[in-house]
Amino acid sequence: MAATVPGAVRVIRGDARRLPGIPAGSIDLVLTSPPYPMIPQWDAQFGALGARGPVAMRRLLAEAWRACRRVLVPGGLLAVVIGDALRRDAGGFRLWPNHAHTLIDAERAGLRPLPYLLWKKPTNRPNAYLGSGFLPPNAYVTLDCEYVLLFRNGGPRRFPAHEPRREASRFSRAERDRWFSQVWGDVRGARQGAEGRRTGAFPPELAARLVRMFSVVGDTVLDPFAGTGTTLWAAAALGRNAIGVELDPGVYRALAAEARRRTPA
Ligand SMILES: C[S@@+](CC[C@H](N)C(=O)[O-])C[C@H]1O[C@@H](n2cnc3c(N)ncnc32)[C@H](O)[C@@H]1O
Repeated sequence: MAATVPGAVRVIRGDARRLPGIPAGSIDLVLTSPPYPMIPQWDAQFGALGARGPVAMRRLLAEAWRACRRVLVPGGLLAVVIGDALRRDAGGFRLWPNHAHTLIDAERAGLRPLPYLLWKKPTNRPNAYLGSGFLPPNAYVTLDCEYVLLFRNGGPRRFPAHEPRREASRFSRAERDRWFSQVWGDVRGARQGAEGRRTGAFPPELAARLVRMFSVVGDTVLDPFAGTGTTLWAAAALGRNAIGVELDPGVYRALAAEARRRTPA
């Protein structure tokens, strides 16, 4: 097999709701994981953008899905890695179904929902429970899956017969059988940042698999909530061009420095 030529990486400091500098119809795949509404880790960042509470947080992400639709090519795909949240409100303990909201909001943005994946994270605490322990009926199911929600901008992408970039992106039968079954239990969670700082990064293997499943060599892959850049490094290593958008100045600086470090002189 021919060696893959790494793709170019570009990082932009900006807002996922605007996607500055990215022309309409220029992105083949959006692969991202946004801040999750109602997870305390992200409260301050949502708050700084004027989104306090679940309705405003959801509305903010819906704006980002509309921007993604604008920049996708016809037939381009959006893959959103997202988990639900568990949190108390005035009525007590409850689930905040971020995956359901994303499905509805991305469809409202004009994208077509496709069958999605469930990423079952290996848990260190297989017997973990919340609530009333061993006495029914008030114990709660452990939340150990995240969703990889998939959407397409219109109908399938069209390629000429035997298009070389597509042929070079082929996966094996074994990969197909493993990757396209709905529950993924074989991808470990990502290591978090230094000094235990939580970055919300997803594992490189998850990004690489999704890039191979839903784009071809030479495509352009966008992560509008780029964070530590997992999507960008995976996409570039697989011969796709990558664009990352990140709002937080400190996270952006680290991302830009890493992009420079990885760019061959
Ligand atoms: C869940 S993390 C993404 C993690 C990423 N997948 C990785 O592997 O590192 C979400 C990121 O989105 C950024 N962010 C939050 N709101 C944003 C916005 N409106 N526009 C762009 N980036 C934003 C945060 O600073 C954070 O770095």
